[in-house]
Amino acid sequence: MLRSNGIRWGTVFVTVLLSPLLLAQTADQHDAAVLQIQVDRPIAKVSPTLYGLMTEEINHSYDGGIYAEMVRNRAFQDSPMHPDHWRILQDGNALASMQIDTSSGPSEALPSSLKLTVKQADASDVAGIANNGYWGMALQAETAYQGSFYAKAATNFSGPVTVRLVNNDTGTVVASATVPSLSNEWKQYKVTLQMGQIADSSSNHLELVVAHPGTVWLSLVSVFPPTYKNTPNGNRADLMEKLAAMHPAFLRLPGGNYLEGNHIRERFEWKKTIGPLVDRPTHRGPWGYRSSDGLGLLEFLEWCQDLHMQPVLAVFGGYSLEQEHVAPGAELAPYVQSALDEIQYVTGGTDTKWGAVRAKDGHPAAFPLTYVEIGNEDWFDKSGSYDARFAQFFDAIKKDYPQLQLIATAPVKSRVPDVIDDHFYRTAQEFFQDTHHYDKTDRKGPKIFVGEWATREGTPTPDMGAALADAAWLTGLERNSDVVIMASYAPLLVNVNPGAMQWNTDLIGYDAIHSYGSPSYYAQAMFSNDLGNEVVDSRLENGAPRLFYSVTRDTAKKMLYLKVVNASSGSQQLHIQLQGANRVNGTATVIRLSGHSMEETNSLADPNRIVPVKSSEAGISADFQRVFPAYSIQVMEIGLR
Ligand code: AHR
Repeated sequence: MLRSNGIRWGTVFVTVLLSPLLLAQTADQHDAAVLQIQVDRPIAKVSPTLYGLMTEEINHSYDGGIYAEMVRNRAFQDSPMHPDHWRILQDGNALASMQIDTSSGPSEALPSSLKLTVKQADASDVAGIANNGYWGMALQAETAYQGSFYAKAATNFSGPVTVRLVNNDTGTVVASATVPSLSNEWKQYKVTLQMGQIADSSSNHLELVVAHPGTVWLSLVSVFPPTYKNTPNGNRADLMEKLAAMHPAFLRLPGGNYLEGNHIRERFEWKKTIGPLVDRPTHRGPWGYRSSDGLGLLEFLEWCQDLHMQPVLAVFGGYSLEQEHVAPGAELAPYVQSALDEIQYVTGGTDTKWGAVRAKDGHPAAFPLTYVEIGNEDWFDKSGSYDARFAQFFDAIKKDYPQLQLIATAPVKSRVPDVIDDHFYRTAQEFFQDTHHYDKTDRKGPKIFVGEWATREGTPTPDMGAALADAAWLTGLERNSDVVIMASYAPLLVNVNPGAMQWNTDLIGYDAIHSYGSPSYYAQAMFSNDLGNEVVDSRLENGAPRLFYSVTRDTAKKMLYLKVVNASSGSQQLHIQLQGANRVNGTATVIRLSGHSMEETNSLADPNRIVPVKSSEAGISADFQRVFPAYSIQVMEIGLR
């Protein structure tokens, strides 16, 4: 395996001497296709922010996904009357019961808790509660896990409470720690659960047990593994590494539908997602489950910081999915103020009200911010109120922050947005036929953000056919990236366990312990890693119907990036002419992703079936022939002098 640009590319590094004669024999028979590239004639700038990420709480992207918390329904808020995902534990002759108690909780935000009543228990027959996590709990050898819980003991009970991690298959306690005594007031307790030499597995659960009769109330029961860059309350390392390898320039947050909620009362209320976890009430998301809000506004921003991305901050624009809207004017004013406060929380100095709150939350330094999006997919709002709602946000934000670029999610007439957010969920065929979508876009109008796009073929993650269509689509975005300044695939993440997924084509799949990139993930990483800063002039003659390409150059690196997508079932030969270069390196680095069929794909069981293969290939000159195999995506890095 070879590591390059942060991606574990799949395999060998070969040097191939290309014989034009051999190539001509292996290619399909048709009129020779000629690609002329004028390497010294730039025709447009490439947007340095073209490739980024779009995220929201869908498919257990955060809880049970990138947010590293291992305990499901940790604050017992998922269901008002039932402790979902928890079970009572009664060893031997122990007797105990559990129920949600709405009369006591550790904070105003979490007013209820789990009441555990133990009638009978002793050292050999303990009682308690157990949690299976998000389809298991991943534990790794020689690793320390940070456990914590809030508790309040009745006067008939003072502890101890033992926290333990147990292997489901053997019943072995793989780590445990004991809190010796509990207070009669709500208090947080912390333990470290140290693994020894175990076999890595996700077949584990958590137990909190006691060995005496008595009553105890519990809340915010948490277990964290080590996180990416050890960020507290942070993210799962394997998923963050996969995202880092895409070299994303931005993170569009926090949605998507998740920003809006089904109802206005279920919107992403950023002020309820900051500060200590115990002060976050959790909220119902639009995708059928409750969000812990452990991944709140500050955690989004730290995610950006960890991956060197800028946030594209979507603020609630006054419309929710069930056709509820806030009337523009006085009614909308508090929502506009909330957006201004949010921008101040992100960017303000510690001498500002919300910048000071951010500092108190642990992050004194302000975050960079250029783009603010007003709402999400407001073309769905049948009331026709978006134009006026957008205008109210636009005027208020521009007044305080004239430097910010404001994104509209639907056409508006009363103001000119800086950027328009376009969304495309398509079949492969539709993308193949629409790669020229932005060729004729007015260059004097607003810029374009393709904030959500995907070929919806393959489940839970896109197959090779989808990757080919995605790559074909990207050639069109790159060619037009003077006007298409940002693009992000959606949805990004999916927990592939039964019942976890709501949207059936998602870029990266995982369970509690493993993750994999789809072919489309690799195609996007390849495109992003070799972006370039200028589009150069080019012309393709006699190109086959499903042959797509993009050609950019990096002026600092003196490198030409030729991306060719052959979505046909046959190989295709290209006669490539590089005009205007003083000298062309005779050897190019070629990164190739290819499959045997449109349906071939990666999965948890077969994560590396389709991965990029990197090779060093000779025979490159100002005039050369090359065959592009069936169902392949290639990036050629050609050195220029
Ligand atoms: O990406 C899934 C959903 O598609 C997003 O939440 C929404 O914006 C779009 O309709």
